[in-house]
Amino acid sequence: MVGKHNDILRDGDYGVIFVDGDRWREHRRFALQVFRNFGMGRGLMEEKIQLELGFMFDELNEMIGTKKSITIEPSSIFEVTVANIINQLLFGYGYHQKEEKEKFSKMKDIVAKYMRMAVWPTINLGLSFTPLQYFPFIKPKYDDFLKTHNAIFNYCNEQIKMHQKNLSEIMSKNEPQDYVEAYLCEAAKGNEQFTEHQLAYMLFDFWVAGQETTANTIIFSLLYFLNNPKVQTKIYEELDTVIGCDRRITLSDKTSLIYVNAFINEVQRSVNLLPINLMHRTLNDVKVGGFLIKENSTITPMLSAILYDEKVFPEPRKFKPERFINANGELEKIDELIPFSIGKRQCLGESLARMELFLIISNFFNQYKLAPIDETNIPSLEKIPGLTVQPINFECKILKRF
Ligand code: HEM
Repeated sequence: MVGKHNDILRDGDYGVIFVDGDRWREHRRFALQVFRNFGMGRGLMEEKIQLELGFMFDELNEMIGTKKSITIEPSSIFEVTVANIINQLLFGYGYHQKEEKEKFSKMKDIVAKYMRMAVWPTINLGLSFTPLQYFPFIKPKYDDFLKTHNAIFNYCNEQIKMHQKNLSEIMSKNEPQDYVEAYLCEAAKGNEQFTEHQLAYMLFDFWVAGQETTANTIIFSLLYFLNNPKVQTKIYEELDTVIGCDRRITLSDKTSLIYVNAFINEVQRSVNLLPINLMHRTLNDVKVGGFLIKENSTITPMLSAILYDEKVFPEPRKFKPERFINANGELEKIDELIPFSIGKRQCLGESLARMELFLIISNFFNQYKLAPIDETNIPSLEKIPGLTVQPINFECKILKRF
């Protein structure tokens, strides 16, 4: 089924998310290698994240100015910051000028729409049983989905074209500065697997997978914070005791901020960002719980069943960061916390996402106070369904803590 969707949307099995076999193996390995070279999980990538965080704080501070607080819709600030980080990694630049931010804002809306539509039954019917795409109740939505898909693909292609203009310079340096450069250098060595079409869909997959996921988790962290006053007190107590107001939190603080880590874990568990995960294919006949699943079946291993398993997480619908702290006050590792999935297809961007979540969430709460506009009307935790769940737009007050 995925193969058929790929034929329609991608002219074949291209990219990394909906691909398996040799192409998937080679390109996943190459991407992980490039990410490692760029300092993923280490200082170099942290520097890039801290730099983008600095831009975000400058913008917020400018908005606050001498006012006591501002009332804003905070999502876009976080979305641009997360997009800048992934863009730096893939394309070597971020969106800092007004026009660039406006361009990104349009693309961001397109990606959000793509993620919502990707799980609509009408779209999947149209993709799976092609004659259905001409049915009047399916056609407009189906066409809209294709338009959305093509807009993201064209954006990725534009980035490749921009890099190709400087290809000889890139080759002469032999020190790629971003993923596209690294890929083009590999292609120039004559590796036939490294085609431009494959690159466009690698970028498509990274761009779609690397933005909404992290940005929505961070935005939900604000919502869980607003909805849980006791949690707010504990976070501020820990930040004041361990960090103070005079410096930026770095990755080296991670092990000291037990409650903040527990909070992020509980946000990821509660958000359950990819509730139905991604589709997988069985390579052999397998038996699960007494049921035979035939070779070549499409399956969706639902993360929800584990993240909301009450045997592991009692009262799963309650927001309780404490469930990740043991009797000795240490962070408790619970193996069933698997928001990035497990196994060979586990999230490729996990290290980057973990760094982003920790650095952005901890530093934001250390610098700013967040309050609802109306204490009797706290923004909703409701989720808009999609491949990744999305928060409902909301406004809140932001003020500086120090
Ligand atoms: C909070 C943030 C994130 C969450 C919760 C998340 C979660 C996931 C999940 C559940 C999967 C499916 C794994 C499976 O098929 O079993 C996945 C796959 C993937 N993610 Fe993430 N992700 C996040 C951030 C990112 C980032 C920042 C990137 C980009 C660098 C990324 C790139 C990918 C890719 C490329 C795949 C497909 C991997 C493959 O099929 O081999 N993700 N992610």
